[in-house]
Amino acid sequence: MQRKQHLFIPGPTPVPPAVRAAMVRPLIGHRSCEFASLQRSLVKKTKQVFQTENDLFIFTSSGTGALEAAVTNSLNPGDKVLALITGQFGQRFAAIARQCGAEVEALEFPWGKPVDVKKVTERLVQGPQPKAILLTHNETSTGVVNDVASIGALVKNTPVLLLVDAISSMGAMDIRTDDWGVDFMITGSQKAFMLPPGLAFLSVSAKGWAQIETVRPRSFYFNLEAWQQSGAQGFSPWTPNVSLLFGLEAALDQLLAEGLEQVWARHGRWARAVRAGLTAMGLKLVAEDEWASNTVTAAYVQNGRADELRATLERDFGLCLAGGKGELSDSVIRMGHMGYVDELEILGSLAVLELGLKRQGYPVHLGAGVAQAQKLIYQEG
Ligand SMILES: Cc1ncc(COP(=O)(O)O)c(C=O)c1O
Repeated sequence: MQRKQHLFIPGPTPVPPAVRAAMVRPLIGHRSCEFASLQRSLVKKTKQVFQTENDLFIFTSSGTGALEAAVTNSLNPGDKVLALITGQFGQRFAAIARQCGAEVEALEFPWGKPVDVKKVTERLVQGPQPKAILLTHNETSTGVVNDVASIGALVKNTPVLLLVDAISSMGAMDIRTDDWGVDFMITGSQKAFMLPPGLAFLSVSAKGWAQIETVRPRSFYFNLEAWQQSGAQGFSPWTPNVSLLFGLEAALDQLLAEGLEQVWARHGRWARAVRAGLTAMGLKLVAEDEWASNTVTAAYVQNGRADELRATLERDFGLCLAGGKGELSDSVIRMGHMGYVDELEILGSLAVLELGLKRQGYPVHLGAGVAQAQKLIYQEG
């Protein structure tokens, strides 16, 4: 039998049948009235997920494109930027800003821990004031969630801009773009939006626009003024991936039909079940409960052969987990549990993980992790 691949990586995630079916619809012209009405409706629905009234753009690119769009449109070369870094994706956001010519000051926190808001407060009081703060909401390399609301409160009524990477959390968690004062909010399609990779989303606040007007655009593709002009007509300036947009319509309809609060609650339940399961197997979690992600969980494999374990799981059971990045290379497994995932898959993946650990000689009691996860799912209904 050809093995199925069961995607438990933090993106790309499984794509629901209705979304797959929508993507094979015959193409429509990207300058047609039908397209304009589709794009307008997609923007409106995506704003509900972002909890924003700000302008919102849908790019044909991966999430990194939208990170770069936010940076190149809001910063001039030499502008001072404070990058709050809790892992690999925070480092990458800083690298994008550096490459675009910003003067980046990195405020780093230990991997597995969130941003310490007190330290950020002290840094801002001390000065000099940065032009912008870069923050990763859900640090996918460690499974840590950062407190965007508190950082937002520090800068909301100041000229400092807040750029937030919510690529691995938007759609799965309660993210309040406007209440939290986020000027540039970014996400991508291949995670909780349940789509293949290829779309990225960016919202821009009024404060963000005021800054954009002072910046000489350095990206042609991602020139936000061009996107705004075309967006006003219901179009995108360049040819969009229409098939993915059909898929987005189906995915958003699915999310909104379930209800965003229910979707967020479901992600919380899956995360708690996975955390209970992994702990009962004897694996140590990278993030503590207090700041643990609802979409991705990283756990140490004590014998330090995490990549070998992942290879076994993929070869023998078709279970695809992600590995450690940077300083966590080969010492952790990362399990994505977002988007189109149900109880059966959560429990099945834990059962198979136990088998893989056992085959690797790890002292695991078969069923111990599954039992804890079952108990949690049973209790939480
Ligand atoms: C937090 C975060 N930022 C950025 C990225 C990069 O996104 P993409 O690969 O879609 O460009 C990822 C992808 O995993 C991510 O999880």
